[in-house]
Amino acid sequence: MRDHPGHVFSRRLDRSLPIAANAEDMWIVDTEGHRYLDASGGAIVLNIGHGREEIARAVYEQIIKCDYVHPTMFTTFPVEQLAKALARHAPPGIERFYFLSSGSEAIETAIKLARQIHLKSDRPHRIRLISRWKSYHGLTMGALSATGRTSFRVPYAPLLTEVIHIPAPYCLRCSYGMTYPECDCRCALALEEVIQNTGPETVSAFLAETVSGGTLAALPPPPGYFKIIRQICDQYQVLLILDEIMCGLGRTGRWFASEHFEVIPDIVTMGKGLGGGAIAISAVGVQSKHYDVICQGSGSFVHGGTFTHHSPAAAAGLAVIRILERENLIERVAHYGEIFKEKLKNKLSDHPNVADIRGLGFFWGVELVKDKKTLEPFPRREKVAERVWQSIFQKGVVMYKSTGLAGTDGDALLIGPSFIIEANDMDIIVNAVLQALEETLF
Ligand SMILES: Cc1ncc(COP(=O)(O)O)c(C=O)c1O
Repeated sequence: MRDHPGHVFSRRLDRSLPIAANAEDMWIVDTEGHRYLDASGGAIVLNIGHGREEIARAVYEQIIKCDYVHPTMFTTFPVEQLAKALARHAPPGIERFYFLSSGSEAIETAIKLARQIHLKSDRPHRIRLISRWKSYHGLTMGALSATGRTSFRVPYAPLLTEVIHIPAPYCLRCSYGMTYPECDCRCALALEEVIQNTGPETVSAFLAETVSGGTLAALPPPPGYFKIIRQICDQYQVLLILDEIMCGLGRTGRWFASEHFEVIPDIVTMGKGLGGGAIAISAVGVQSKHYDVICQGSGSFVHGGTFTHHSPAAAAGLAVIRILERENLIERVAHYGEIFKEKLKNKLSDHPNVADIRGLGFFWGVELVKDKKTLEPFPRREKVAERVWQSIFQKGVVMYKSTGLAGTDGDALLIGPSFIIEANDMDIIVNAVLQALEETLF
């Protein structure tokens, strides 16, 4: 807003924002005293609730003990211990971890790492990346090039690098007009077609969100999808990078969402909840066999950054993993996620504008349509997701939203509460959505 006081280049230029003063457990309080139930941890960031003292203490103690050392000159206990803790839970064989600050950096790292693995394996022509439409992988140029969300790409299209996109496994609006399971996962087979057309010897990696997040609103792939993807990747020596920045670290009721689909990636990215929302930290996990390849010869990964392997951030990450383990929070997500699903479905399934309720654990999407029978979306100009979101916000509930699910139209709400949520807070969320739909889409 042009008359917004102060000097901040705000993330909202169309209105001024409430000032958040306090946040504890599931709640945020602004300076006017309004209380908001945080049903999405902003952009699906909070997994253990707001205001965990244990994280603050861990970071404080690390800063006091040893704040910054350059990652090419020293290692530190929190970095070593966090890598060890992640290795306990990561998909089999993923035993090495590279730490960064943002999810976007983790994606850049994964793309470059795949390339380096091929270079070190005497496959220098493998330069191309394949990803999917209707995906989000980050704001930096490499990650944005991989992203398949049209509205985010269009302004910067001339600046983006070549990434080949295949259709997403979005059965509700199948790109091939087919129906699961008769389709035999045509959208997964598209990977082979594209690899063949591109020239298999030129393809480096395939990048996909294990469960689609910000664009397709918590959409899991159909059964069998990743089995086919893994087979194709193996057949053509294409590395499989799974982006678990939004859906990983317990969000779906398993430590890694890939466990649901029995797929083992070559490289996996994580971020968001890794720092519990308190500190920015992301990570790239890689199979030991690929790490060994990188170590051969000169033994370097041509990459780096001032704040990679940052020890106070790693201390936060370690505190988060310890809390998740000690409080059995992933098991809690698996259990209470089913209860949350029932509540969402019971209250919202019959609504004439709700086309689909999908997700896993504490990661749920509610897709909104103009016509439930034909799945006709609302035109984007009506800004339905934004208006419903605003109405929910005014009721004191914060969630996330998705747009552009159907071409450039399409609206959805994205819900991802902290793993500590109680049943009565689930009711508040579901009731707020229902009321907002009734008020906005009468
Ligand atoms: C699946 C996925 N990948 C990557 C990113 C980028 O992460 P960051 O915003 O931390 O750079 C996001 C962010 O929403 C995401 O959801």
